[in-house]
Amino acid sequence: MLAATAVRIAPDDPLSGLEVGERPEPSAPDGWEVVRVRAAALNHHDLWSLRGVGLDPGRLPIVLGCDAAGVTVDGREVLIHAVVTSEVGAADETMAADFSILSERYDGTHAERVAVPPRNLVPKPAELSFAEAACLPTAYLTAYRMLFVRGGLRPGDRVLVQGAGGGVATAAIVLARAAGLRIYACSRDAGKRERALGLGARAVVAPGERLPERVDVVLETVGQATWAHSLRALEPGGAVVVSGATSGADPPAELRRVFYRQLRVVGSTMGTRAELVALTRMLVDSGARPVIDSVLPLADARAAYARLEHGDVFGKILLDCGE
Ligand SMILES: NC(=O)c1ccc[n+]([C@@H]2O[C@H](COP(=O)([O-])OP(=O)(O)OC[C@H]3O[C@@H](n4cnc5c(N)ncnc54)[C@H](OP(=O)(O)O)[C@@H]3O)[C@@H](O)[C@H]2O)c1
Repeated sequence: MLAATAVRIAPDDPLSGLEVGERPEPSAPDGWEVVRVRAAALNHHDLWSLRGVGLDPGRLPIVLGCDAAGVTVDGREVLIHAVVTSEVGAADETMAADFSILSERYDGTHAERVAVPPRNLVPKPAELSFAEAACLPTAYLTAYRMLFVRGGLRPGDRVLVQGAGGGVATAAIVLARAAGLRIYACSRDAGKRERALGLGARAVVAPGERLPERVDVVLETVGQATWAHSLRALEPGGAVVVSGATSGADPPAELRRVFYRQLRVVGSTMGTRAELVALTRMLVDSGARPVIDSVLPLADARAAYARLEHGDVFGKILLDCGE
């Protein structure tokens, strides 16, 4: 089958470790199901893997990709929860001791077929296209958990979304809008700021710029480049919910600001299967839909990865993996 595979770790030139070509069919461990992938989404995670962050070189070659929607052998339309754990029935799979994400230990979704445990299959609502459904398992689920679970936000609360053009960030704006939050968004790029307004942000700012008012929660995926701005933007007692650090993971902690203003720093990673099911219901009932930057054929995966690496993206990049 055709697949996009990590064959080498290359911290400075991630695409040099990417191979797009023929791979053996997935071998499904006992009880796992094979899904014919119709659409798969790219995430920054795929670039981190090629750079060797979170991917053990001993597991190479490994098919990349966390997210997909497709059809099971017996014809069910599904999306795939990307979190794999042996802890069957765990209350929160993201906290399981053997937690991993597809493409870290097991072959991922950037392929014509992928094998997953049956509990990772979630029914795809007919209202969502395969491309829309494929956006949900990482970026949209992460944004959902940051906003409503770890961030505890409710309608009318104020949130700042950093790195507004990114996959998680656009997801956060779309979901926050559907939930009736007051949204501020920050991006380096004037065009992306304009598009964030179009998605429902009340106001947009450039990095470091003062907001019209302080916020209850900041959603951080950029890290070092925006950390100080995030802390300054918070109301006393507010929280930075952080799930990523694209620009660097070691900003000055600014402990004085943290204790004096009684701020909280809250980590967040992926989401549970139950949260993914709730997210699909939220999209169906609110009419909100994922923001799709572009859809490329699986055979052009290298161009898709290059587009993500270049960063000139607004929303999700998808791979069309065939019928
Ligand atoms: N913990 C989890 O479960 C989880 C889940 C998903 C993602 N993540 C992490 O979250 C991060 C974002 O993921 P993603 O898939 O949304 O990535 P993405 O689509 O590539 O978006 C990254 C965004 O970050 C901003 N950015 C990047 N470098 C920056 C810099 N130096 N200064 C300011 N802004 C910068 C850009 O926004 P602008 O151009 O608009 O400024 C860019 O659009 C990644 O590090 C990823 O690994 C973690």
